[in-house]
Amino acid sequence: MTESTRNATLSLDGQSWELPVHSPTAGPDVIDIRTLYGQSGLFTYDPGFTSTASCDSTITFIDGDKGELLHRGYPIDQLASKSHFLEVCYLLLYGELPSPAQLEDFESRVTNHTMLHEQMVNFFRGFRRDAHPMAIMVGVVGAMSAFYHDSTDISDPWQREVASIRLIAKMPTIAAWAYKYHIGQPFVYPRNDLDYASNFLRMCFAVPAEDYEVNPILSRAMDRIFTLHADHEQNASTSTVRLASSSGANPFACIAAGIACLWGPAHGGANQACLEMLREIGTVDKIPEYIARAKDKNDPFRLMGFGHRVYKNFDPRAKVMKQSADEVLDLLGVENNPTLQVAKELEAAALADPYFADKKLFPNVDFYSGIILEAMGFPTSMFTPIFALSRTVGWISQWKEQLADPQMKIGRPRQLYLGETERDYIDIENR
Ligand code: CMC
Repeated sequence: MTESTRNATLSLDGQSWELPVHSPTAGPDVIDIRTLYGQSGLFTYDPGFTSTASCDSTITFIDGDKGELLHRGYPIDQLASKSHFLEVCYLLLYGELPSPAQLEDFESRVTNHTMLHEQMVNFFRGFRRDAHPMAIMVGVVGAMSAFYHDSTDISDPWQREVASIRLIAKMPTIAAWAYKYHIGQPFVYPRNDLDYASNFLRMCFAVPAEDYEVNPILSRAMDRIFTLHADHEQNASTSTVRLASSSGANPFACIAAGIACLWGPAHGGANQACLEMLREIGTVDKIPEYIARAKDKNDPFRLMGFGHRVYKNFDPRAKVMKQSADEVLDLLGVENNPTLQVAKELEAAALADPYFADKKLFPNVDFYSGIILEAMGFPTSMFTPIFALSRTVGWISQWKEQLADPQMKIGRPRQLYLGETERDYIDIENR
């Protein structure tokens, strides 16, 4: 962190304290309150972390007002159109775009780790036959801590590297197998002659009874979905991974914690919830009714795929996703898809409505991703597992950055206690 040259002064009841101010390379200045409690005996209060930077990072930058997302400085729209997922993984993990030789070496390391330990099959089989794929993923990724214990000494950079590669490589196999198990089909093993996205599509959709050819346009669209979800700075699941890892916990267990957090409908579960909402709306004539419900404070309904904690402008990922939805549906000959029609009309109606404009609520990444995934043949229950697969590299990059930071401390928020003060225990017969 850079040396502070300015201070902020906090005053209360005639006393004042000086707090250093740090300037980032981009984004708002931060007031460093780490010494505040020691100096003043005061805590700050920020549930939901709306004004709190929990760490410093060099990986991803979001300007929510401009609608800008940069990975290591590179805009997401350039990465989505010119790069591909494994190159973006390299960029996130190591900080720079790879040379051709570095990329080839990285791709071959990932490819060589795509298989799961055969005993993990038994672990999958322990789940109820109708288990949600996210439930299976939380369990199986956590269980990797038992299967790959040889790479879990987090103080050793080499073991951190092996755990990272294993996670990126095995996550498509885990997500695909969670799906296969969920629908009662045999597991399809990875094929190392296929690229990352094609391999995942094949493991999801091939069956032993017939050949399966991966359509290159669909595999490109899949790769773009992975790329668009790869990292998003200190969101809820990433912060969960960092908090879990701050205790020195096992890397696979930390990623399982991230998957658990991602599952919620306010976070990664929004893509499933969004498609279900679009289907429930069903026809464009119902849109005004749902817009009215979203605006009604007495109705818990929210427009899924709309709004974001950080973006107060278009989510740049949503723009690419919308274009991708058009391409994929066109390819599949389903351009008159009623869900897409509802989505487009709903987006237009919400953007024209002063409620959404005043609150700066714009479509987010999840608004169009479900339509593409459904057109590819994925059921809604697979949307969040695909998000988890894609975000794994972001979680790992942030985890590695945190562990390499000599200033790392266990995360331990404080609280504003509003409960009873000390009182004496009352025997049960006297209550
Ligand atoms: N529909 C209707 N009203 C909304 C919506 C929405 N989708 N989102 C926010 N608002 C209103 C909210 O009621 C509040 O109004 P008021 O100020 O009158 O109380 C105001 O906008 C601010 O909302 P907030 O809940 O305080 O904002 P937040 O930053 O805490 O929440 C959010 C962000 C993403 C959880 C929220 O916008 C939301 O629930 N959106 C729908 C779920 C969704 O699409 N999530 C995916 C996020 S992107 C992918 C990811 O990061 O995982």
